[in-house]
Amino acid sequence: MDNMQIQENSLTIYSYIQIMERLLHVVQELSAARDLDTVMDIVRHSARALTGSDGVTFVLRDNEFCYYAQEDAISPLWSGSRFPMKICISGWVMLNREPAIIEDIYTDSRIPIDAYKKTFVKSLAVVPIKTNDPIGAIGCYWAERHYATSEQIKVLQVLADTAAIAMDNINYQNIIAAKAQELEKAIDDTLQAVAKMVEQKDPYTAGHQRRVAMLGLAIAEEMGWSPERCNGVFRAGIVHDIGKIGVPGELLSKSSRLTLFEFALIKTHPEAGFAILRDIPLLLPTAQIILQHHERINGSGYPYGLKNDEILSEAQILAAADVFESMISHRPYRPALGVDAAIEELVANRGILYSPDVVDTAVHLVRDKNYQIPE
Ligand SMILES: [Fe+2]
Repeated sequence: MDNMQIQENSLTIYSYIQIMERLLHVVQELSAARDLDTVMDIVRHSARALTGSDGVTFVLRDNEFCYYAQEDAISPLWSGSRFPMKICISGWVMLNREPAIIEDIYTDSRIPIDAYKKTFVKSLAVVPIKTNDPIGAIGCYWAERHYATSEQIKVLQVLADTAAIAMDNINYQNIIAAKAQELEKAIDDTLQAVAKMVEQKDPYTAGHQRRVAMLGLAIAEEMGWSPERCNGVFRAGIVHDIGKIGVPGELLSKSSRLTLFEFALIKTHPEAGFAILRDIPLLLPTAQIILQHHERINGSGYPYGLKNDEILSEAQILAAADVFESMISHRPYRPALGVDAAIEELVANRGILYSPDVVDTAVHLVRDKNYQIPE
């Protein structure tokens, strides 16, 4: 072997290693992809770079059609178009479950030549995504006559196989997410039904829990909390007085002053609510918030007299929302006190009974953003 040959061989090996390195990186990127657009994006760019082709299309099977979903090319191909499976080369690849390598598209009867005339394409190579049951195809196109090498086809096939796994993963994730959402909805529906049970017993507060939940949600959102945490506030709000189900109905709707004993009985409702929900693991966070919704940040609340950060932020929001909603609503023992009085109560006890941040946010919502508590 002369020097020239050795140099050529080491260049080939070097570029081969470079391609493998790039391919490995792409496979890692694909395994982290969480949606189809990202998969297609990674594949079309890397397929073009790795094969040195002038254009790449990512084709999805759409029943009897090939959908040219994305492309990366020197000039436009067919992005966004749909062709019947039977007349396009991607369709041929999917129906025959094998790659198509065509050096001269003008001499191959599988090519619908009218669709190619206006493009730069002279040669192509197309591989199926998921060979056993194709769900799409990756196409590479060259502007000059070129017969795709076996290395180029291998690279494309690795990309297609990895894309197939990534697409399956995304599907599974979506199925799991949909199931989780169904379950969450079932839980929320059940909680709404439970809320109605309490409210049937105590018609004067019908709608109170829902309105507190909505105000609590608005405050949490205004404070920039994540959707999950906001939903946690809403969910706890919907059933925050669930423990009142154990309190005699006539006490709840009593129009005269409560005796100390009666009041002590009503004060058991946060713990009673906690006891009802705590054994459902998914609702334990809800139960903990409910347990604390009558705590006050100076320690004067019940049942435990917790202070400041000892009280869950969610419970701090519900505490203020609960008082606010109660004050603007009619009660058996008094008429509605109005929005101004409710704001006055929050502001007067800002940093004493209620979290300063929560009070500021609630006042901002009602005063500056004209927040209206729903009927
Ligand atoms: Fe309560």
